[in-house]
Amino acid sequence: MKILVTGVNGLVGNSIIKLLFNTQHKVFKSSRRVEGFADHKVDISLKNDLDLFFSKFDPDVVINCAAMANVDLCELEKKSCDDVNITGIRNLVDVCARYNCHLTHISTDYIFDGKKDSGIYLESDTPSPQSYYAKSKLEGEKIITSSSIKYSILRTILVYGIHEKLNIVTFIKKSLEEGRAVSLVDDQIRMPTYVDDLSRACISASENKAIGIFNVCGSEQMSYLEIGKRIADHFSLDKNLIKHVKTKDLNQKAERPFKTGFDLERSIRFLGYNPTSFNKSLDLMFNVS
Ligand SMILES: NC(=O)c1ccc[n+]([C@@H]2O[C@H](COP(=O)([O-])OP(=O)(O)OC[C@H]3O[C@@H](n4cnc5c(N)ncnc54)[C@H](OP(=O)(O)O)[C@@H]3O)[C@@H](O)[C@H]2O)c1
Repeated sequence: MKILVTGVNGLVGNSIIKLLFNTQHKVFKSSRRVEGFADHKVDISLKNDLDLFFSKFDPDVVINCAAMANVDLCELEKKSCDDVNITGIRNLVDVCARYNCHLTHISTDYIFDGKKDSGIYLESDTPSPQSYYAKSKLEGEKIITSSSIKYSILRTILVYGIHEKLNIVTFIKKSLEEGRAVSLVDDQIRMPTYVDDLSRACISASENKAIGIFNVCGSEQMSYLEIGKRIADHFSLDKNLIKHVKTKDLNQKAERPFKTGFDLERSIRFLGYNPTSFNKSLDLMFNVS
């Protein structure tokens, strides 16, 4: 297949192009500028960029990893957030409809308010987004689901992996290794997702042209505090550097859901999804045999 991957310099996009390397697919690596891993300029907020690319290469699938994914920044820069997370999706849907192209898109647990007791959401649960980012991501989903195109939407949670930009796992490990204190909340609970697991699910959804919404996350539910303790234990780092705080102490711009997690049955069944355990993913990331 001819696969266009957008946002390839980001955490997820980068993992996807690495996993697609040396496969039989023809992969087009794009971002809003030709830089880093991107060979093609495709700014999804610009209709013209998509038109030009599609008229030249006519891809079978787009895996959309382009997004404004910084939750607090979206609260401050609403127009930029809309441009990517809403207008960008409208542009993708429009061009996919005209070229009969499958769209694989990534969404978020933040579309839920996290008030469900178990914190375990089904694909069919009713969204209740709290932040501007979450609202924009839900709007993006709605543009796709109400269109006539063939699509897979993979919702995911707190993604981590090896990437030049720090994420929850690399940030905690680096801080503890350098003897710096980290403040972690015990009142936000997630099912953290190893990026390569998500990427494999995106590739499977694209290859099989799986239709609908799929939950994709790790298999273990834990607070940020627990994530920190698990990392410290795993790499024998100093747990005393972990400061236990509450969400209200952080003064974050955007509201976060309290407790999220996903029922994974549908992605296990239709995408062959098989999440890596948290400890195993730490070994894989840092080459521990
Ligand atoms: N990371 C998580 O914990 C998490 C959790 C749930 C859902 N998600 C979803 O997963 C997807 C991927 O997120 P991520 O963590 O990989 O984000 P990321 O690391 O911030 O990567 C996003 C990439 O998109 C690029 N981009 C931004 N605007 C663009 C545009 N207009 N056109 C083309 N490219 C553009 C960015 O380019 P620049 O490098 O130039 O900024 C960046 O490289 C997003 O849809 C996000 O909402 C992520």
